[in-house]
Amino acid sequence: MGRLDGKVAIITGGGSGIGRATALLSAREGARVALADVDRGAGEQTVSAIAAAGGEAFFSPCDVTNSADTRQLARATVDRYHAVDILFNNAGIAGVGSVEETDEALWDRVMAVNVKGIFLTTKAVAPYMIERRRGVIINMASSIAFVGLARRVSYAASKGAVMAMTLSMAADYARHNIRVNAICPGTIHTPFVDRYLRESYADPEAGLAEITRRQLLGRLGTAEDVAHAVLYVASDEAAFMTGAPLIIDGGLTGTK
Ligand SMILES: NC(=O)c1ccc[n+]([C@@H]2O[C@H](COP(=O)([O-])OP(=O)(O)OC[C@H]3O[C@@H](n4cnc5c(N)ncnc54)[C@H](O)[C@@H]3O)[C@@H](O)[C@H]2O)c1
Repeated sequence: MGRLDGKVAIITGGGSGIGRATALLSAREGARVALADVDRGAGEQTVSAIAAAGGEAFFSPCDVTNSADTRQLARATVDRYHAVDILFNNAGIAGVGSVEETDEALWDRVMAVNVKGIFLTTKAVAPYMIERRRGVIINMASSIAFVGLARRVSYAASKGAVMAMTLSMAADYARHNIRVNAICPGTIHTPFVDRYLRESYADPEAGLAEITRRQLLGRLGTAEDVAHAVLYVASDEAAFMTGAPLIIDGGLTGTK
């Protein structure tokens, strides 16, 4: 028995990092997965890995900032699997810089992908959940919604917005029996963090050693650490959880 047997899950940004690990784990636990990503090659690779492990998935090309794409993702999923039980709004991008260092184009891009992307994807998918009076929506926030980190003004604004949206969406959707929660990871070693290290440190290896020293548990998180948290929130084991952040950050938020 898998923990997501019989469920259909849409995962955005499923071509890499946390989205990919969550897609693989969800399929292993019995879910049929609609894998959405703006990067076709990466998305198709995740789908092949799921198929090779005996799971069921398909790729839907989707830029979450484009409402035609998000509507097509929802329609393709329902055409194929006849329902949507779980929406993991995971796609996101980083923005490095203080106010002075952040240009308007970066601010707009970060807010478009990280915030508007969740709005558009949910707008496209939620009607299918409302129709069946069941569903789980999981929004990718970050521990940066609670902790001040230097030189991340656009990214922090976007993830604070995701956290606030999650609370509002939970209030709106409870009457439709749809739970809405947020995942708040700390520093998770994915290509996202490798890019950050390249952009922020002259010596990325030394940068990695420095951010690892900051971790209470002496290591960065893994994509699988986060995937297991998402699995819990997506499963019926979390039936009484809505409007809440789940923090997986190795102690960053709760300790000093
Ligand atoms: N890695 C971390 O330390 C960390 C910490 C907290 C939160 N997060 C959040 O977790 C999420 C996933 O991060 P990750 O570390 O796995 O990153 P990643 O860069 O490894 O993967 C992100 C995926 O999203 C896709 N994507 C980007 N823009 C998109 C768009 N417009 N439409 C559809 N897909 C798009 C990319 O192609 C990529 O496959 C992001 O929202 C990120 O902000 C990451």
